[in-house]
Amino acid sequence: MKLRHFLRVWDFSKDEAQNVIERALELKSLQTLPKTLDGKILGLLFEKPSTRTRVSFESAMLRLGGQSIYLPSRELQLSRGEPVKDTARVLSSYLDAVVLRTYSHDTVEEFARYSTIPVINGLTDKHHPCQALSDVMTVIESGIDLGKAKIAWIGDGNNVCQSWLEASALFEFEFVIACPEGYEPDAELVKEAKEKYHAKVIITHDPEEAVRDADAVNTDVWVSMGQEKEAEDRKKVFGKYQVNQELLKLAKPTAVVLHCLPAHRGEEITEEVLEGSQSVVWRQAENKMWLHMALLEFLLVKS
Ligand code: CP
Ligand code: NVA
Repeated sequence: MKLRHFLRVWDFSKDEAQNVIERALELKSLQTLPKTLDGKILGLLFEKPSTRTRVSFESAMLRLGGQSIYLPSRELQLSRGEPVKDTARVLSSYLDAVVLRTYSHDTVEEFARYSTIPVINGLTDKHHPCQALSDVMTVIESGIDLGKAKIAWIGDGNNVCQSWLEASALFEFEFVIACPEGYEPDAELVKEAKEKYHAKVIITHDPEEAVRDADAVNTDVWVSMGQEKEAEDRKKVFGKYQVNQELLKLAKPTAVVLHCLPAHRGEEITEEVLEGSQSVVWRQAENKMWLHMALLEFLLVKS
């Protein structure tokens, strides 16, 4: 089987991403799950905290007959200076796949260069590809015709936004990002998305323009993990980039509201919207588990 990694959305073709999503939806519909990952062991090497990504991957493994080992980086020799490349080669001989959650995206890339098992990016400062794929699954499941959809992003041009941007290029939906000046997604990434994929990406500083007639409204925290020192400044700059009921009224009445969670009520989203009838955030969180099952099958059994 050919060794494949999933470090960013663009590591997959449109067909591959679509197949993984379709398989995730199929698995979700089954009464009894197949033991397709019987005997497989997944490592979860995490530098940052996680509720959803960690538990959904662990649960995905267990439900499909596999097992997992949680490896907080502070408990590994990595924290005492053992090189990433040495860790990658050693763990490759014990495990069948590994999920990494790190600060620097370079760490995940370096790990993958030395790894002989599939490496999955479970979030870095640049990308959160598993999140974007399971979110796209949630949008499709909501009955939205992705190819014709306008999807709004309100807030920071961060890791989740950048993975969504890559997803928009693959799935050909319009992706309108409303962010404060200086908090846009990476300019090189935007350029590549437009030139190579003809992506329909629009960047504005006006949340109303982004949300008007949108099929889905998506947001994320103003302060990501690792940016704690910037928290006060960010809260001032991001003030008007809040998904509240007034803003949501501009979207289509059928629009769904997405948030990868954890949410900060009263900052990027109001309690009313998060708990409101258009919010699909709990199903979105659940879908991470189904998507991770399909992704693990793709990397460990099918490719
Ligand atoms: N959405 C997400 O990745 O959540 P966790 O940080 O809890 O894994
Ligand atoms: N942008 C957030 C996502 C958390 C799942 C962060 O990186 O902290």
